[in-house]
Amino acid sequence: MPNAKETEGRLCRIAGPVVVAEGMRGARIGDVALVGEARLIAEIIRLERGQATLQVYEDTIGLRVGEPVVSTGEPLTAELGPGLLAGIFDGLERPLPEIQKQAGHFILKGAAVPALPRAARWPFAAAVKEGESVEPGDVLGTVPETPRLTHKILVPPGVGGHIAEIREGQLSVEESVALIEARGNRGPIEVRLMQRWPVRQGRPYRQKLSPNTPLITGQRVIDTFFPVAKGGTAVIPGGFGTGKTVMEQTLAKRAEAQIVVYVGCGERGNEMTEVLAEFPCLVDPHAGVTLMERTVLIANTSNMPVAAREASIYTSLTIAEYYRDMGYDVALMADSTSRWGEALREVSGRLEEMPGEEGYPAYLGSRLAGFYERAGRVVCLGKDSREGSVTIIGAVSPPGGDFSEPMTQASLRAAGTFWGLDVNLARRRHFPAIHWMTSYSLYDAGGWFDAEVAPDWREQARLAMSLLQKEEELLEIVQLVGSEALPDAEKAILQVGRLLREDFLQQSAFDPADEFCSPKKQYWMLRAILVFYHGLVEALGKGAGSAKAMALPVLSEIARMKEIPVEKAEQEIRALVERTRAALGGLRDG
Ligand SMILES: Nc1ncnc2c1ncn2[C@@H]1O[C@H](COP(=O)(O)OP(=O)(O)OP(=O)(O)O)[C@@H](O)[C@H]1O
Ligand SMILES: [Mg+2]
Repeated sequence: MPNAKETEGRLCRIAGPVVVAEGMRGARIGDVALVGEARLIAEIIRLERGQATLQVYEDTIGLRVGEPVVSTGEPLTAELGPGLLAGIFDGLERPLPEIQKQAGHFILKGAAVPALPRAARWPFAAAVKEGESVEPGDVLGTVPETPRLTHKILVPPGVGGHIAEIREGQLSVEESVALIEARGNRGPIEVRLMQRWPVRQGRPYRQKLSPNTPLITGQRVIDTFFPVAKGGTAVIPGGFGTGKTVMEQTLAKRAEAQIVVYVGCGERGNEMTEVLAEFPCLVDPHAGVTLMERTVLIANTSNMPVAAREASIYTSLTIAEYYRDMGYDVALMADSTSRWGEALREVSGRLEEMPGEEGYPAYLGSRLAGFYERAGRVVCLGKDSREGSVTIIGAVSPPGGDFSEPMTQASLRAAGTFWGLDVNLARRRHFPAIHWMTSYSLYDAGGWFDAEVAPDWREQARLAMSLLQKEEELLEIVQLVGSEALPDAEKAILQVGRLLREDFLQQSAFDPADEFCSPKKQYWMLRAILVFYHGLVEALGKGAGSAKAMALPVLSEIARMKEIPVEKAEQEIRALVERTRAALGGLRDG
């Protein structure tokens, strides 16, 4: 590393992922250090009179007191450039397939394998000419990273001036693509296809915009009732087996983002294996490339060192922001943020810090807030006023499914959308188990749906939600007095509440026809159920029996709307709506 001020000390204490070294005067907090003969990667997190406390991102078993500790004089950085997409990295951005080649199934300790392959050559096409004046964020040129994604090589933050030299053609990530004659006599600055960025520092942008365009997820309960905005944040808390991972994976597959960064943080290795096996075979329905080609995977599974979870979170944020800066909509999926919280708790305990609630450090809330604050829809740096976004969707695993625990509470305060998974729904196999009574979204995306899908989108969603809420109240009454005693209007609500739950909210992640539901199809499905509701109320008012209404054959058609392919949904459901009207009209008129 150039102009790094190296400081060498000696290990004097080892406590799991936390070690102490003496003789580190001159080092700085936040610098990366290489610990021991094995050169394990660590970060200095405390410094007192030359004594450095370090958080080690690799397994410390085998380390001995007295071994050297060398500070590199540089913070923890991520390599950014073409070749990230379809990559699989550990929390320190080391490419796992490459490491596996070198070490078999074990992670090589202290392995210095670069994130981006050095041998690969990329066809770089210049977008600027010599003599042109550029500022941070301007596009110097492009590289076709995948068949559908143009990777923009940008003038790095803090660099500006005149182009002294620009190259074209097949270049490796380490080769210079441009020389920029900087203002203020600093001499020319070399820009390469690859750059580094300190992971704990958010990448700069020109302006943050209010997130009001929805990120279409294709999940009915989400888009219709609790949408997340592009550049927004969502948390999915849920007890054991309630569907967090299935939801994160479904969104990674089907949400309408151009880039997905998926971080498996402290979860079971087999779940990452599923992703690895499945994504290369699936085709991205929006872009026609395999899903891997729009995905970066960061795997830091439960068998990997605990402290590296911290690194994996920041590495993935930095990669997400890097693609945002090119003007793309990026979705960052983190499963599960609770495992990161546990790592913070473990390190804090080893540091003998004053514990906060349930042993978590007192700064848990601010750390989480800092994480979610790096989401956003922004105007990027650069002359062309591109817009890009990072949407963060974090799973939370509260022990015992108890939402009052500190991780869930702190996440809830930091995020704009709350998709609460309910143990009882999951037990009844109502999936996704997002409960409509506990969930909420603070984003005002309804205006977009009204304008783009149907003018009464919001009105319809509001009516459906109020029916679901009334159903919930009525179900309590029914438990006490039975449904016979209820007036007709309330009987209708009970019937339609069931339709809304079973035929609209439930959505299988494993049925190819149902795993993604376009907004248009969502609208028409809801419309069919609500037309049934209005017709039912009218028919019951005219004395028709509710048993007869619930035996109407259109109901089984409504139950099968999920199977209709997205492209045919509007046309087929429109016709179904007419048949529903006619059937209930017939019932009403005897
Ligand atoms: N949308 C869905 N459609 C169909 N089945 C689902 C859906 N969501 C969850 N399931 C079922 O629930 C099971 C458990 O889901 P999942 O592994 O996502 O839970 P989890 O919350 O991640 O659990 P853990 O706490 O162990 O990480 C799945 O294997 C699947 O059978
Ligand atoms: Mg899981």
